[in-house]
Amino acid sequence: MSDSRKVALVVGASGIVGRAALAHFAAAQDWQVLAAARRPPADSANVRALSLDLLDAEDCRCRLAEHPEITHVFFTAHLKAASAAEEVGPNLEMLRNLVDALEAEVPGFQHINLMHGQKWYGNHLGTYRTPAKEDDSRHMPPNFYYDQQDFIVARQRGANWTWSSLRPQAPLVFSLGSPMNQLLVLAIYGSICKELGLPLHFPGSRGCYEALYQITDPQLLARSMEWVATQPQCANQAYNITNGDLFRWKNLWPRLAQFFGVEPGEVQTLSLERQMADKGPLWERIVHRHGLAEHPIDKLVDWRWGDFIFNSAYDNVSSTVKLRRSGFHDCRDSEECYLEALEQLRRERIIP
Ligand SMILES: NC(=O)c1ccc[n+]([C@@H]2O[C@H](COP(=O)([O-])OP(=O)(O)OC[C@H]3O[C@@H](n4cnc5c(N)ncnc54)[C@H](OP(=O)(O)O)[C@@H]3O)[C@@H](O)[C@H]2O)c1
Repeated sequence: MSDSRKVALVVGASGIVGRAALAHFAAAQDWQVLAAARRPPADSANVRALSLDLLDAEDCRCRLAEHPEITHVFFTAHLKAASAAEEVGPNLEMLRNLVDALEAEVPGFQHINLMHGQKWYGNHLGTYRTPAKEDDSRHMPPNFYYDQQDFIVARQRGANWTWSSLRPQAPLVFSLGSPMNQLLVLAIYGSICKELGLPLHFPGSRGCYEALYQITDPQLLARSMEWVATQPQCANQAYNITNGDLFRWKNLWPRLAQFFGVEPGEVQTLSLERQMADKGPLWERIVHRHGLAEHPIDKLVDWRWGDFIFNSAYDNVSSTVKLRRSGFHDCRDSEECYLEALEQLRRERIIP
C-alpha cells in the first residue's frame, strides 16, 4: 500500500459498526482499508485483513509496525462484560494499547475516531434528559465511554494527531457474535412468530411500544465517520448521530408484521431470554427448510439485548444539531431503514 490515498484502519471490523465502516471505506475511491480484529473479515477488493489482539500490547505494536501507511483509525472494537464496571478495564486497555502502538510505529497517523453511543447519556439506566446534547452532564459512572474519552483528550494534548467521537443508536447491520444486535433480535423473533403461526406480538412493555425511539442507518453512520474524521472543524469533538427523525414502535409494528407475513399482535410483555431459550432446534429446522445460511441462533442473537431494547419505556431522543452545524446534513427515514435492513437479510438468506 503506497499511493496517495488515505489509509483507514478499521479496528473491530467484524462487528456491527465495524462492518458498516468497512463497507463504506472499501467502496471509496480515495481510501485504502485495513480491517482489524482478532478474527478479521477475509481480504476483499481494496480491503486487507489484519489480525491483532488489542489486549496484547506487543502484538499491537508488531502488527502496526507493518503498516506505517495508516492515516486514519476508526476504533469500533468493543468487549462486553458482565457489568458496566467490568467493561471499563479491557475497553480502556484496548484503546491505550492501540494509541501507544500508533504513536510509536505509525508516523503518518492523523486521526482516531471513537465509536461511542447513546449509553453516554445513560439510556441503558432509565430516563434521561431529552433531546440529549453532547455536553449534557454525565450519569453516575461506571461507563467505559467516559474513561475512553478522558484518556483520548488527555493523550491528544500537544500531539500532532486529532480525535473525534460519535454517539449513534442501534445501527442495523448483520453480524455474528455481537451481543447488541437489535436488527437480528427482531428478524429472528419475527421469523419464529411466522413459523409458529403467531401474530407479531410486541414482546416488551407498553411504555416502550409508545415511546419515541431513534436509530442510526449504518451507511449514514459510516458517512458521518468519514466526515468527522476528515473535517478540521470536527477535530477533538464528540457528536450525536442518528437518522434525524424519530419513530414509535406502535406505528412501525404493523409494517413489520406485514414484512413477516403475520398479523400485528398485542403488547404481550415477556422475557425473550426465557421464552426463546428453547428455540435453537426450531431455528435449525427453519434454516434447513428454507435453505438459509447456517448460523447457530446463539451466534445471531442475544435475547437479553432484546429484553433491554423492548423495555426501554421512555423517549430515546438526541439532538443532532451539533453535527448538522458542522456541515453534515444527511438524514434517513427510520421506518424505511428498518424494512430495507430486513429485506437485505432476506436477500442474503439469513431469514426466510
Ligand atoms: N451495537 C449497537 O447497537 C451499538 C449502538 C451504539 C453504539 N455502539 C458502540 O459501538 C462500538 C462497537 O459496538 P458493536 O456492537 O459494533 O460491537 P461488536 O459487534 O460486538 O464488535 C466488536 C468488535 O471488536 C472486536 N474485538 C473485540 N475484542 C478485540 C480485541 N481484543 N482485539 C481486537 N479486536 C477485538 C471484535 O472482533 P474479534 O472478536 O474477532 O476480535 C469485533 O470486530 C461499541 O463502543 C458500542 O458501545 C453499538
